[in-house]
Amino acid sequence: MLLGAYAKLHYNPNQLAMDKFVIRGGNPLLGTVRVSGAKNAALPAMAAALLTEEQVILENIPQVRDIETERKLLAAMGAEVELGFGRAHHRTTISCGSIRNPEVGYDLVKTMRASSLVLGPLVARFGRARVSLPGGCAIGARPIDLHIKGLERLGARITQEHGYIEARADRLKGEEIVFDKITVTGTEDLLMAATLAEGETLMLNCAREPEVQDLAELLIKMGAKIEGAGTATIRIQGVTRLHGAKHKIIPDRIEAATFIIAGAITGGDLNVTACEPQHLDALFQKLQEVGVKIVPGPDSVRVMGDNPLQAADVNTEEYPGFPTDMQAQYMALATQAEGASIITENIFENRFMHALEMVRMGANIKIEGRRAVVRGRTALSGAAVLASDLRASASLVLAALVADDETIIDRVYHIDRGYEHIEEKLKGVGAQIRRIGEIFPKKKAMAKAAGR
Ligand code: UD1
Repeated sequence: MLLGAYAKLHYNPNQLAMDKFVIRGGNPLLGTVRVSGAKNAALPAMAAALLTEEQVILENIPQVRDIETERKLLAAMGAEVELGFGRAHHRTTISCGSIRNPEVGYDLVKTMRASSLVLGPLVARFGRARVSLPGGCAIGARPIDLHIKGLERLGARITQEHGYIEARADRLKGEEIVFDKITVTGTEDLLMAATLAEGETLMLNCAREPEVQDLAELLIKMGAKIEGAGTATIRIQGVTRLHGAKHKIIPDRIEAATFIIAGAITGGDLNVTACEPQHLDALFQKLQEVGVKIVPGPDSVRVMGDNPLQAADVNTEEYPGFPTDMQAQYMALATQAEGASIITENIFENRFMHALEMVRMGANIKIEGRRAVVRGRTALSGAAVLASDLRASASLVLAALVADDETIIDRVYHIDRGYEHIEEKLKGVGAQIRRIGEIFPKKKAMAKAAGR
């Protein structure tokens, strides 16, 4: 066995968690909290294993629900995937030597949009891929047209029927691809596809996120020829085959940033460890404007939140700008700053669902199209609130940490998609947070949801 003893994954496919968080606010967070591996780097890295018949070993994999979904997705196609979560190692070993069926159904895509990341690697290696189209999701339309357009540029024939995209190609051919819009998973999908294409691919207007760079590092270890990942222009020389590799996933910058805001919002003194401070520059600049004291170390950040907070405007942008995945958490902080903060969401439409829940807790927030105007400082009071998506859930946890009395956050399965044991980590630094609810057998949970 890979790690000697495998810890059983928290999530059982035959069970449905109907959990809630109960949080009593008011405690400053003090001590040390450790950051897990980046979900958004681990997902494309797992998809990259499809590019070779040899074994790919990935370390620092976070123990979150999306990773379990990706495991299922690869296993359903015939891959052998072992996921191991021990005290010292979080690791997956993937062998895609015997993929039987390069298809991904709606059941998986609907719970995790990043499933479309397998489109490029599948068509590049097997000459065929059939992947369900994602529907609209809680944070806007989120199409995958740029993935499809890019694959067509590389010579894939694409058809769309019965809610599925089908891509076919004898061998992809290197080409110039100019992304109309910067897309993170689109860049990753085509980067993977181009590694096995014939000749050179030049990709322009690429996403520069650290997760793209991490994927390129893995692909290079697998034998790919890539230059420029982490810049807007990536050049790939196609090779005929890739081999196995071992790679450690980068720390999760969004989880790190969420803890940093937790320290700041509670007026705490928190040491956030096992992170990469260089990936957090835009957040640090903003927090300095707000009046939060930040001391970055080589792989840790100390945050001291004892100053009064001042309002500051935020515009979400592609990396290295302020991440859209931190917009909701920043909004929670803005409710505790003096003055008006204007938060402009430039990446996704309809990504302010958390604002309405914060208003129910006493925040003063007005939404005007892509802008939210947050007037602070307002005392928040505990309420029953509903988590609508992954980052929105994190923002409600942050708001609850400073609210009077008790907040109950429903639908925490959203947070379990991307934050590893967040309640344990927060409890470890002094938060009063507990998970309630039951783990139901799936049938019973569905009957309960349907009111039966
Ligand atoms: C990734 C991240 C997500 C983050 C987002 C933006 C993963 C698994 N997810 O999502 O956490 O919030 O980047 O930083 O890494 N678009 C199109 N057509 C396309 C693709 C995208 O119009 O084919 C649009 C989207 O609707 C959105 C924008 O481009 O408005 C950026 O989306 P994109 O960068 O693709 O987000 P994801 O890769 O899905």
